[in-house]
Amino acid sequence: MALASLLLRLVLIAPLANCVSQIDWEDDGTGTWVTLPVIHGTNERRFGKRAVEVQLANRSDVAYYASIDIGSPPQQNFVQLDTGSFELWVNPDCNSLRSNGDMKFCEAVGSYDPALSSTATVLGETNTLRYGIGSADIEYVRDDITLSGSTSTATQIKFGKATRTDDEFAGILGIGYGLNFTTDYPNFIDELHDQGIMRRKAFSVGLGSKSEEEGAILFGAVDTKKYSGSLAKLPIIPASDSPDGVARYWVNMNSISLTPPSKKTRVYENTTSPVFLDTGATLTLLPQDLTDAIATDFGSDGLDVNGFYQVGCDLYDMEGTLNFAFDGVTIQIPYNEILRKQPTTPPKCYLGIVPNDEFLLLGDTFMRSAYVTFDLQDDNVYMAQYTNCGTSPQALNPDSDFSEVAGECAGSSVEEGNAAADISGTTTLVDATASETSIAGAASGASLGFRIPTFTTLWAVTIGMVVVVGL
Ligand SMILES: *[C@@H]1O[C@H](CO)[C@@H](O)[C@H](O)[C@H]1NC(C)=O
Ligand SMILES: *[C@@H]1O[C@H](CO)[C@@H](O)[C@H](O)[C@H]1NC(C)=O
Ligand SMILES: *[C@@H]1O[C@H](CO)[C@@H](O)[C@H](O)[C@H]1NC(C)=O
Repeated sequence: MALASLLLRLVLIAPLANCVSQIDWEDDGTGTWVTLPVIHGTNERRFGKRAVEVQLANRSDVAYYASIDIGSPPQQNFVQLDTGSFELWVNPDCNSLRSNGDMKFCEAVGSYDPALSSTATVLGETNTLRYGIGSADIEYVRDDITLSGSTSTATQIKFGKATRTDDEFAGILGIGYGLNFTTDYPNFIDELHDQGIMRRKAFSVGLGSKSEEEGAILFGAVDTKKYSGSLAKLPIIPASDSPDGVARYWVNMNSISLTPPSKKTRVYENTTSPVFLDTGATLTLLPQDLTDAIATDFGSDGLDVNGFYQVGCDLYDMEGTLNFAFDGVTIQIPYNEILRKQPTTPPKCYLGIVPNDEFLLLGDTFMRSAYVTFDLQDDNVYMAQYTNCGTSPQALNPDSDFSEVAGECAGSSVEEGNAAADISGTTTLVDATASETSIAGAASGASLGFRIPTFTTLWAVTIGMVVVVGL
């Protein structure tokens, strides 16, 4: 099994004609916003059972794509939704890909030809975008973009048309900070705000659980039926104070703990650290000491030749959680979300966390269990445990008070206070497999130190994370 086949976020894209009714551009008189479905790669209803089984069998559990229509008449393109990068581009070079399955996927995401659009302007500028894996040489264009199925159009958006790509299977919709931070032009998020498509520069991401196979991103709104209680306010760490000096969605994490089925929670030592939230990364990256300790507690023998921690699939269906504590909220990730199961015979299971001593990020294995509003107006992230009790979008305005946006779901089954729970040294952490050695593993803790990352060490897991070379 190749690394790439396990990690790259590939999904066979089919036209989403039946999604149209779920995409709304709204103006309720108090605010304007837009909802865009986020489709999981494992969703058989969207992609077909055969496509999921054949094309995705050995690939990422989930991939998160948005459908956009570019130009006049519209040309449909699927782009990867990525909070870890800043620019939009389309037209991956499918011929540069090695495997037949990758090429088929790549061809299915669509492409864009400005010559076929009456509203296109090709600008005489080029750029090279480098990601954790792969890169794209782009030529900038301007054209109108509609989120597929909606009626409103963002006009004359500047984005990239790739002229050469390496290891990229789809374009990327970077929804990080744009103008004045990472780009010298308004990016997609800036434009949605500037053009009044959302009144507050804020968007909410609920990727949804694996079993739901569908989520949504709301630009300019929050869905109060995706959490209970209040959203915890976490200041976004300014670029100048962040570990890599880049304006990303960095927030302070207080601790990581494990609650096995026995409910005897262990808090890992030295897990207070800045982390950033990245929908563009399939997995979560943590320092090796810590990932080793967590993996040991899951009964893993250590990293395999491919760089992953294999664990017993008996854990997959157990009722344990890995917990990430922040000021005011602890996100509890069920075992079946933090582990990924390969549909081989017999199945193989892996921890959805891989070691990296240089860069700490919470990828999709974390994001599926959280509901997160990214507020670029006041530079905060608002976070709650994800739960789904329906749909109730509330438009956000420049004067919206997040403390008043209460979740409408009944209290979740999530228990409070795990971070401060029992850390008895004799607890069997993972009932089925843990031994005394697992306790030792946990006790060794980890030091979450930082260095400025050298991105060459970051491969497939951070495909969506762009290397910033400055303005
Ligand atoms: C998935 O991986 C297994 C084991 O590595 C291999 O035997 C199988 O052919 C792969 N399936 C696909 C669809 O690539
Ligand atoms: C960028 O900076 C300019 C000049 O300070 C300011 O007018 C503008 O509002 C800023 N735009 C954004 C998106 O921050
Ligand atoms: C945690 O960090 C402190 C301070 O850096 C250090 O003294 C201690 O040894 C660390 N503990 C572990 C278990 O790594």
